[in-house]
This record gives sequence, structure tokens and C-alpha cells, in this order.
Amino acid sequence: MSLLDYMWRTVGVLFILLMKSASATDCSCELTNAEKPFPKDKLMNIEKSAVECNQKIQSAKMSDEAALLLGLRQRLLQLQEDVSALEREDDGGLYGAVSLRILELELAEVLQLINKLNRTHNTHQSLSRKVNATMLQVQTELKQLEKFDHMQIAQTLKENKRLKRSLAQCQEELLATPPPPPTTPTTCPQGRPVRVEGPRTYTVTQYGTSYTYGSWGRDPRPTAGKESWYWLIPLTSSNVYANYVRQYTSLSALIAGVSPKDVAIASGNPTTNTIQGPNVVMYGDALYYGCYNNPSVCRFNLTSRVVTTASLPQNSGINNKFPFCHLEACYVYTDLDFVTDESGVWVAYTSAENYGNVIISKVEPGDVPTLGRTMKTSLHKRTATNTFMVCGVLYATRYVNKETEEIFYSFDTKSGMESYNLSIRFKKMHTNIQSLNYNPSDHKLYVYSDAYAITYDIIFELN
Ligand SMILES: *[C@@H]1O[C@H](CO)[C@@H](O)[C@H](O)[C@H]1NC(C)=O
Ligand SMILES: *[C@@H]1O[C@H](CO)[C@@H](O)[C@H](O)[C@H]1NC(C)=O
Ligand SMILES: *[C@@H]1O[C@H](CO)[C@@H](O)[C@H](O)[C@H]1NC(C)=O
Ligand SMILES: *[C@@H]1O[C@H](CO)[C@@H](O)[C@H](O)[C@H]1NC(C)=O
Repeated sequence: MSLLDYMWRTVGVLFILLMKSASATDCSCELTNAEKPFPKDKLMNIEKSAVECNQKIQSAKMSDEAALLLGLRQRLLQLQEDVSALEREDDGGLYGAVSLRILELELAEVLQLINKLNRTHNTHQSLSRKVNATMLQVQTELKQLEKFDHMQIAQTLKENKRLKRSLAQCQEELLATPPPPPTTPTTCPQGRPVRVEGPRTYTVTQYGTSYTYGSWGRDPRPTAGKESWYWLIPLTSSNVYANYVRQYTSLSALIAGVSPKDVAIASGNPTTNTIQGPNVVMYGDALYYGCYNNPSVCRFNLTSRVVTTASLPQNSGINNKFPFCHLEACYVYTDLDFVTDESGVWVAYTSAENYGNVIISKVEPGDVPTLGRTMKTSLHKRTATNTFMVCGVLYATRYVNKETEEIFYSFDTKSGMESYNLSIRFKKMHTNIQSLNYNPSDHKLYVYSDAYAITYDIIFELN
């Protein structure tokens, strides 16, 4: 299967790159390319199988396997982008150790995914055999790499260049294949999101730039008398924890930093049931957030000032195990991301069992919150900056560069359809986005970005 060949080639490139960096201190070589031209017919095969793969994914309801394959493909594309970014940065010496570490982690996870894919495919005997053969080959290659010497480094460098060329071409071919069908559903009466305009509000908070992590917003289902209120939660301890929520009676009060009203969740910070991680939301006069050092959803009722909890499924990531990231860095302790839409509160998270791919669960109200519908997506959490939800469709953004963020992914919780071809870009005021949420009552995105409180308008279109 050509697509798998392609995947393996990608994996090969990464190993070679890692090896290259390991040796860059004591070896430098000038190489001229003496390779044969790239085999075009192989590319045609890859294109063919990519098209077939797409058709399969389109025609049927997403099977586990197809979702894995789609996720894998996206991650390989992402990996390639990351590698290219590293290459551009490279001044002929070492790659950034941090970036390499992230690639290494990525690679380990991709290998895990491939293993899972291999297992899923075991019923398909012919494919299995082919995969097996490729894997044995890669294993042999790995063993050889382990025993590398200076000569082999030179060879792998050369091979690396060739692989990169072919990858670039594969990439073009893949991009040239027909994209999946329109999956941005029109489940909203106002249509589907087509643009993000703004910033509309852009302000530093009362805390100045002291706290780079935090969140803010406006309750979409405010209790009577609090319709115009805004809330703000800087993570005041280690960029990770908070133990109170600050409220303002209007946006101008928040901007001016006057007459804040603080409600304490606990006197300590952190302690049992205080806030861990920035992606907090307020809904129905209750705060939803990740509980301190506990794999649970916490709900703090601002009226009764009582915390109630709902356990996440076993092995869900907390304590910075599965954060949101981009190539350069991760957003610490972003394991749980609470989002609000027209129907209420949801939580996005992941687990090792789902290979670090996002899982989304509805948080159901009640005396004690419970987790309702739960769905697995193929979106690798590490490749996204944040998520938000509009009319039952989960959207994810990714870091493009310091100035630009892009909504690139959607998952329809009603149909299970996913799309990676959204390209809704918006202008950032600061490099990082620590939290981001959609408010269904005013159609705005509330963003906390390097200590600044920012809003954007989402523009909808009926098609
Ligand atoms: C892939 O599956 C086959 C068949 O079960 C197995 O023999 C092989 O070891 C698997 N490969 C890996 C790398 O897990
Ligand atoms: C995979 O390769 C190993 C080693 O050659 C072999 O023993 C095994 O039977 C192969 N499995 C399949 C499914 O072809
Ligand atoms: C995604 O792909 C579909 C199907 O080709 C297309 O109709 C839609 O416009 C694409 N979306 C974007 C944002 O490019
Ligand atoms: C919060 O507590 C008040 C008073 O006990 C109760 O009426 C309200 O329903 C609670 N809100 C939530 C979201 O549980």
C-alpha cells in the first residue's frame, strides 16, 4: 500500500534527521546529489491510493481504522511541516534541542499509531504482510543506524536529501488530490463560521502583564442581574493554578480595572478542587475547570460556592501530560479544555489509549455534573493550540506564526464528520494563546493571549 510506504518514508526521514543532529558536533560534510530522478510512477501510485483512501473515508461512516488513518496522515503532514521549519532554522549546526525533543515525541506517537493501525489491519492478510515486510525493513535500518559511524552519517545525510525531495513531491501530490466533501455543517441558524474579524477588544487586565496564563469571558447563560458581567481568572500560581474568580459588572469596568468582585474557591492555591490549567469557562453562574491534581471536571457554583466533580474516563491526561502545543513549545497544563456552545458545556481532553488524539465529552448539568456523550476524534491534541465549539461542531486552531493563528479543523459531534481543510486565519496580537472560547450569546471568541484579554467576532454565512 503506497500510502503506508509514504508514511514509512516520513518516519525514516525523521530518524535520519535525529541521527544527523546527534552527530552534528563532530561531523560536517558537503554533499552533492548523485541520485536518480524521483520515481514518478511511485508517486502516481501514492496519489491513486490517497484518492482511494479519501473516497473510502468519504463513502462510509468513519470507522476507527479510517479515523486513525486520517489522523496519521494529518500528523505526518504536520511532522513534515515541522521538519521543514527546523531545516529553515538550521544554520548548519545543531537543531534546537527542544524542537527536536518535540519531534521525537511526535515520532514516538506516530509509531504507536502505526502499530495500532497494523493491529487493526491484521485481518487484512495481504496488507498485513506488506506492512510486516516494511516494518522488518525499518527495524533493520534502525539497527544499522544504531551502529552508525562517520561514513554512514555521510550516507544518511545524502539519503536524507533525497527523501526530503521525494517527500516534498509526495506532499504536493497529496495536496493535489480532491479534498474531502464539505463537512462544515450548517447546524447553526446563522449559518457556518467563515471568518474571524478583529480584535474587537484588546486590553491588558488589572494585573498588567504579571500573569501570562489565564482566561476570561462572559457567561452565555447569566443568572438574573449579571447579564452584563465579565469574569477573569489569571493563573496566579506558577502559571498553572488559581483559587478565585474575579468579576466585573461591565466590559469597561474590566478594561479600567475598577470595582472587581472576587469569589474564592478555596483559601489555598493550589489545593483540593482549585483551578488547574487556563481553559476555564463560566456557564449558568458556575465555573467549569480542571480540578487540581485530579483527573476530574470541577464545577464551582458561584451562588452556593460549592464544588462538585465528575471523574474523567480512566487514564485521561492531566498534570501536563497531554497539553496543546506548537513546534516551539507547549501550553503548559492545557490537558483539559472547556468549551461552551448553544447546548451547554463540553470538555476536550485525551488519553494514551486514544494516542493523544482529542476526545470530546458533554458535561451534563445536575446536582452533580456528569459526563454525557463522548466521542473520539482523529485530531492530535499536540498539533492544536486550542479548541472551541459552535452549534455542536468542535473547531481547533493551530499556530501558523507569531502573527497568525488558523482555524484548521472541525468535528461535527452529530455526524462524526471531520475536516482538516478549513483555513480561517486570524491576526494575533501576541505570540501565544493560552485560552480561547466561543460565547454562543454574542458570537465572540474570548481569547487570553500573553496576559491580554482579546475578543474577535465570528462571521457566519448561510450557504
Ligand atoms: C504487525 O502485525 C504483524 C501480525 O500480527 C506482527 O507480526 C508484526 O510484528 C506487527 N508489527 C509491529 C511493528 O507491531
Ligand atoms: C512477519 O514477519 C515475521 C518475520 O519474518 C514472520 O515470522 C511473520 O509470520 C510475519 N507475519 C505476517 C503476518 O506476515
Ligand atoms: C473543504 O473542502 C470542500 C470540498 O472540496 C470545499 O467545498 C470547501 O470549500 C473546503 N473548505 C475550505 C475552507 O477550503
Ligand atoms: C447553584 O446553587 C444554587 C443554590 O443552591 C442552585 O439553585 C443552582 O441550581 C446551582 N447551579 C448549578 C449550575 O448547579
